[in-house]
Order: sequence, then C-alpha cells, then structure tokens
Amino acid sequence: MRSWLLVFPLFIPTGFSTIVTRDDEISKVIRVPFSKERAPGFKPSKRDNTRTALQKIDNKDFLFYANITLGTPGQNLRLHIDTGSSDIWVETPGSSICKDPGSCETGGKYDNTTSSTYSYVPGLFNISYVDGQFATGDYAKDTLQIGGVGVKDVQFGIAYEGTSQEGIFGIGFESRQSGVGRGEKQYPGLVSQMVDQKLINSRAYSIWLNDLNAAAGEILFGGIDTGKFKAPLTTIPLSRRTGMNHATDFIISLRGLSVSNANGDTQVLMNESRTVPALLDTGASFTYLPKDIAAQLTELVGAETRSEYKGPAVNCSKRSLQGTVNFDFMGTTIRVDVRDFIIDATDEPNKDNKVLCYFGIIGMAEGSVLTLGDTFLRSAYVVYDMDNEEISIGQTIFNSTSTNIMEIGSGPSAVPSVTRPSRVVTVLATGSIPNGVSFDASATSTDGVGGAGSGVNVSGSATISARAYLSTCLLAMLSVFIGSFTVFV
Ligand SMILES: *[C@@H]1O[C@H](CO)[C@@H](O)[C@H](O)[C@H]1NC(C)=O
Ligand SMILES: *[C@@H]1O[C@H](CO)[C@@H](O)[C@H](O)[C@H]1NC(C)=O
Ligand SMILES: *[C@@H]1O[C@H](CO)[C@@H](O)[C@H](O)[C@H]1NC(C)=O
Ligand SMILES: *[C@@H]1O[C@H](CO)[C@@H](O)[C@H](O)[C@H]1NC(C)=O
Ligand SMILES: *[C@@H]1O[C@H](CO)[C@@H](O)[C@H](O)[C@H]1NC(C)=O
Ligand SMILES: *[C@@H]1O[C@H](CO)[C@@H](O)[C@H](O)[C@H]1NC(C)=O
Ligand SMILES: *[C@@H]1O[C@H](CO)[C@@H](O)[C@H](O)[C@H]1NC(C)=O
Repeated sequence: MRSWLLVFPLFIPTGFSTIVTRDDEISKVIRVPFSKERAPGFKPSKRDNTRTALQKIDNKDFLFYANITLGTPGQNLRLHIDTGSSDIWVETPGSSICKDPGSCETGGKYDNTTSSTYSYVPGLFNISYVDGQFATGDYAKDTLQIGGVGVKDVQFGIAYEGTSQEGIFGIGFESRQSGVGRGEKQYPGLVSQMVDQKLINSRAYSIWLNDLNAAAGEILFGGIDTGKFKAPLTTIPLSRRTGMNHATDFIISLRGLSVSNANGDTQVLMNESRTVPALLDTGASFTYLPKDIAAQLTELVGAETRSEYKGPAVNCSKRSLQGTVNFDFMGTTIRVDVRDFIIDATDEPNKDNKVLCYFGIIGMAEGSVLTLGDTFLRSAYVVYDMDNEEISIGQTIFNSTSTNIMEIGSGPSAVPSVTRPSRVVTVLATGSIPNGVSFDASATSTDGVGGAGSGVNVSGSATISARAYLSTCLLAMLSVFIGSFTVFV
C-alpha cells in the first residue's frame, strides 16, 4: 500500500498529470486496495420479494474488505467497507462474541489496553439493525493507519455486545452516523479527519469496484485514477431532502434506461419523463429497478422468479447473451453488459441438474427507492465528493493495469478530468426518519438550468436504508428514511 505524490494540475486537464515519486510531505492521495470476497453465508432465502430492505439483506453477495491498523503499535483489522453507513466500529477481545480464544480472527480484534494512543470518548455507541441485530459499546479515538498513512484521533465504536465477528468501515455522510439518528451531535468522521490532518484536500473518495471476477478493487481517498475509466467523468449534483441544506445520501437522478443488442439496436425502457432518484450503494449486491422495468429485463434474459429462490433465477449459460443495459444520467450513459448481471448462485450448484445463476436486477418493492448496487456499480467509476455534494461518474475499464492517480483539490470543481452536463436535474427528497426527525415538504430547486417548476414532478415514496454488513449478512441500520421524492425535470 502506498500513497503517491501528485502534481495537481492548475486547470482541468485534457491530458494526464505526472506521478512523481512518493513524498509524504505533499502527497494528498491515500490509495487503498481492497479485497472482495463472497459473503460466507450467502444463500438464497425463501422469503418473498416484497420487502426490499430484507431482500437486500438476504442478497448480500460480495463483501469489500480493507486492511487497516488501529492504535500504537498498530493492531491489524480487516473491515467491511460501506458507503451506506457512517460509523467505523471494531470488535474487541472481551466482547460477548469474541471472548472465546480463536474467535474473530479473520476480522481482528482491537484491544484498547495495548495502545498508547487510545483515548476514551464519552457516550454510548449503539447501532441497531432492522432484523434485531446490533452492535453496542463505547466510543474511542485512536490512530488509524490506512493505505500506508496514519490518521490520528479517529473516532470509532468498540462493540462489547453485538452480533458480528467483523467490524465495519462506514464512510458515508456524517449526518448518517448512528448517534445522529438518536439526536446526538455528529463527530468528525475518518474522511474529515484526513482533510483536517492535511492528508487529502477535500472530503472525496473514488471507488473502482472492478470486474465481478477480479479479486480486488481500489478506493482512493482524495484522488482519482484516470487509468481506471474512460475519461471524462461526468459530475452530477446529489439530491437533498426537502428542507435540508445538505445532501445526506449518495442519490442522483437516473434520467433514462434502455437496452441495446449486439447490433446496437436500442429499446428505451424509461425515458426522461420518468426521471427517478437513484441511490448509489456499494452495500447492495443487486440493482433494484421499478417492477415493470425489472420484469421486462427479466423476461429479456429468460430469467424466472421462483418461489423457492429469493431472486430471479437464470440459466448461467445466458452469459453468452450479447447486449447492454444502459443507464442514462445527466450527460452520460453507463453501459452494463447483460452478462455482468448474471451471478453464480454458488450455494445452489447444479440444482435439478441446472447450473443456476441469479439475475442481478430485482423489482423494487412498493415504497422503496431505486438502488444501483454492485451489479451496476462494477461498470462505473464513481467519485463520492461529500464536500461539493456531487457524484462524478464514468464508464469503468475492467481489469485495467494502467494507473494514473490525480489529486482531488479543494473547493468547487476540484475533481479533475470531469465534464458537467449543460442541463442538470435536481432530485429533491421529502420525508422523515422514524425517530422523529422530519423534513418539511416545501420543495425548492437547488441547482441547474430547468429547475423547479419547469417540468414534470414524479413522486413516490421511498425507503432508504443506510446499511452495514454484519458477519454473514447485510443488515439495515436503524436510520431508515421513509419519505417521498419529487423530481424536477
Ligand atoms: C489484507 O491482509 C491480509 C492478511 O495480511 C492479506 O492476506 C490480504 O492480502 C490483505 N488485503 C489487501 C487488500 O491488502
Ligand atoms: C478499555 O476497554 C475496557 C473494555 O474492554 C473498558 O472497561 C475500559 O474502561 C477501557 N479503558 C479505558 C482507559 O477507557
Ligand atoms: C440500542 O438501541 C436499541 C434500539 O434503539 C435499543 O433497543 C437498545 O436498548 C440500545 N442498547 C443500549 C445498550 O442502550
Ligand atoms: C477480469 O479478470 C478476471 C480475473 O482474472 C476475469 O475472470 C475477467 O474475465 C476479466 N474481465 C474482463 C472484462 O476482461
Ligand atoms: C416517454 O415515455 C412515455 C411512456 O413510456 C411515452 O408516452 C413518451 O412518448 C416518451 N417520450 C419520449 C420523448 O420519447
Ligand atoms: C441451460 O443452458 C444450456 C445451454 O444452452 C442447456 O444445455 C441446458 O439444457 C439449460 N438448462 C436448462 C435447465 O434449461
Ligand atoms: C412540482 O412540485 C412543486 C412542489 O410540490 C410545485 O411547486 C410545482 O408547481 C410542481 N410542478 C409541477 C409541474 O407539477
């Protein structure tokens, strides 16, 4: 793991910046390779498809892991990366789940008594999950080493009680911290600390998930790697909940959806009149589209929804299908090969002498939000810019061995190698969090040409769960947001 010194270009480049030799004094990108593993307990459930949150839990397929160390001297931990939650928490030797010798070895355990840089943070750490699972304990601060870089005084939870043997690396918006859901003040998260300690320039990171079958991907804190996508990236503003001054979730508007065959013939399934808010979620294995659209796609690949499986089942030989599903955002289209939606159901090999696969597109439950999970995100290179509340997105290059890391600067338009669509659709969300925080329904446009009132309002209710992985499954955090969205086109 290394960080790189980069020459930050003075203007948006048409070419590439130069990677200079490493120099920690001015290196402002933290490079973190991560490993991907099939979730150990990934099994189809016999649950029906009506409850999206639960369905996502069951459909947890691949997990993304980062190696970090905590404390001085550093203690090794392997944590699940999650952009959908905002707390980092770890297991500890004395916890109810890890106290047996030999337990919790894979994920690691953090022992506060052997770290000289540990400090106690008053307050209760408590994340609860919709299915009754939880993690609770103390807050602490310590030095967190990631990608070869030490970040001091990072706040995290230590779980004394809980249901998981492995900790979670939540790097979403601070306003989504579990404590905030209980009315507590937010604390500076890891990414903010990186900025405060001048390790990166702004609260932004990019994720290259890479091919399903590739063992690794990469997160760059404070940087992008132009070797990993087809330039340029397109910058799209994040939606905000109505009445909120800031974005709280990685939601952008999806303007259209189409399918193309090998000859390039294209059929539009959703056009601009149906622009919808879409959650970018590395924590979801599958992609959740409106029921009618999912049904058309399911039929197209010959998948069938069967009561005995939780997802649409498809003959794995359908990987030979040539074609793409095209996701149209403002100013850019991300094309996903149909075969990339076809996932081995390793838990049910050759059932009935069939080689069973799952089709990675599922119909959204009533009242849920369109979610672009891993089956989509693998084909995209995504910059999560929390400072500017923007996403920059581009077509990934699978298995790229080319590396050209560029620093993200600070201030507006800091992400290099981007273009901005001439016309922007802003998605405004209204809703409430069950714990009583509510948002008023008056909608105002925040950005863009052709903003509020200039077109159609599409609304529907939505459930967004910020999630975290626990052990074998993905669990929904308490901060479930139920509400409605208004889309201005
Ligand atoms: C994480 O650490 C483990 C154990 O040292 C190692 O096998 C693995 O390759 C590391 N993963 C990454 C992504 O560096
Ligand atoms: C260290 O953690 C233990 C629980 O494992 C806790 O009882 C103790 O108070 C902590 N030490 C300090 C100095 O906070
Ligand atoms: C944590 O939160 C859950 C849900 O709000 C609650 O039921 C539980 O009692 C809390 N745990 C502690 C230790 O306070
Ligand atoms: C990427 O690499 C993996 C593992 O080597 C391979 O299975 C996959 O086919 C490759 N993908 C592409 C698009 O070449
Ligand atoms: C968009 O789709 C709707 C319904 O599918 C259709 O009625 C309308 O004509 C389409 N608009 C355009 C511009 O294609
Ligand atoms: C799956 O597809 C293969 C190749 O087309 C075919 O030989 C096999 O019979 C199919 N299995 C089922 C159960 O349809
Ligand atoms: C859309 O909704 C907003 C707020 O509810 C309203 O002010 C506006 O007039 C609506 N626009 C259309 C075209 O219905």
